[in-house]
Amino acid sequence: MCSLSATDLAMSTAESASSALATPSAINEGLRLYQIFKKGDKRSIKVDSYFQVYEELFSRYVGQPVVFVEVGILNGGSLFMWREYLGPQARIIGIDFNPGAQQWAAHGFEIHIGDQSSAEFWDDFYRRVGPIDVLLDDGGHTNKQQLTTAVKAFDRVNDGGLIVIEDVCASYMRQFDNPSSRSFVNFAKFVIDSVNRRNSNLRPTRNGYWRRVYSVAFYESIVVFNIDSRRCWVGQPVDNGGVGNNALDYRGRGVSRWLFDFDRWTALMSRIVLVKSIKKRVLRLAYFVANKVNDAGLSKYFR
Ligand SMILES: C[S@@+](CC[C@H](N)C(=O)[O-])C[C@H]1O[C@@H](n2cnc3c(N)ncnc32)[C@H](O)[C@@H]1O
Repeated sequence: MCSLSATDLAMSTAESASSALATPSAINEGLRLYQIFKKGDKRSIKVDSYFQVYEELFSRYVGQPVVFVEVGILNGGSLFMWREYLGPQARIIGIDFNPGAQQWAAHGFEIHIGDQSSAEFWDDFYRRVGPIDVLLDDGGHTNKQQLTTAVKAFDRVNDGGLIVIEDVCASYMRQFDNPSSRSFVNFAKFVIDSVNRRNSNLRPTRNGYWRRVYSVAFYESIVVFNIDSRRCWVGQPVDNGGVGNNALDYRGRGVSRWLFDFDRWTALMSRIVLVKSIKKRVLRLAYFVANKVNDAGLSKYFR
């Protein structure tokens, strides 16, 4: 048996973790998109860890008549990169606040000049362009810009399409007025709450995001909303009808099982003569205490 001191263990863990770290080139050199990016003669600025994500997300559209929209044109390089990568069938649309970006229309791209933080801009954009397949946001990165861009796209992206918001590291940066409870990353977490509540055991959220967003994926500094209303039904339990052997079900057994027993509490409350509002408050307090007891020791995972 091998015995390691706490320091040895910490060191070996750190070593194995660092030796497991991939170098960007080991991954990127094998990616077709990265090769196209590198040889592009118009400037594009991306993060080197994004190309693996792009390939994962966009390779299915290569050679397809996809409607691909990128917010943020700057020097035009990424428009050319997407066109070469996706092929001649793709309709590549660029959006920028800078009127100078209109020059790229002469190269066969559809260019729209406007402010991505304006709801009116998006209404007009979708009226003119129609539904799209992919929206990639590499624009101004403020909370309002990223939020408006995503929310206005929820109903305009075709089923099976993607909304990809990049540089969500801005949600942690002062330069972008963050951290804030209204940061884009907090919004993405809010959307995943809506998706998770699309379940027959729960009440769906009023915002209705769950009707269009099939799933949310979080990458390093990229958030992806997979849009597909065909897959957004309210999940119901199904039974395969197989033979059961009355196995004991230990689901949901916390330390404070008794405190958490909803039926017990409501039964108890209904028997006690009290004003309804006070009963409600007592119940709420009971659940608050139960939660605290059950969650004790978990805060270390939230640091
Ligand atoms: C990071 S650059 C885009 C980089 C480009 N995609 C590339 O690969 O090189 C950001 C672009 O977003 C544009 N932008 C900033 N604020 C915007 C807004 N409110 N609406 C639309 N575009 C905006 C800027 O003018 C700039 O061209």
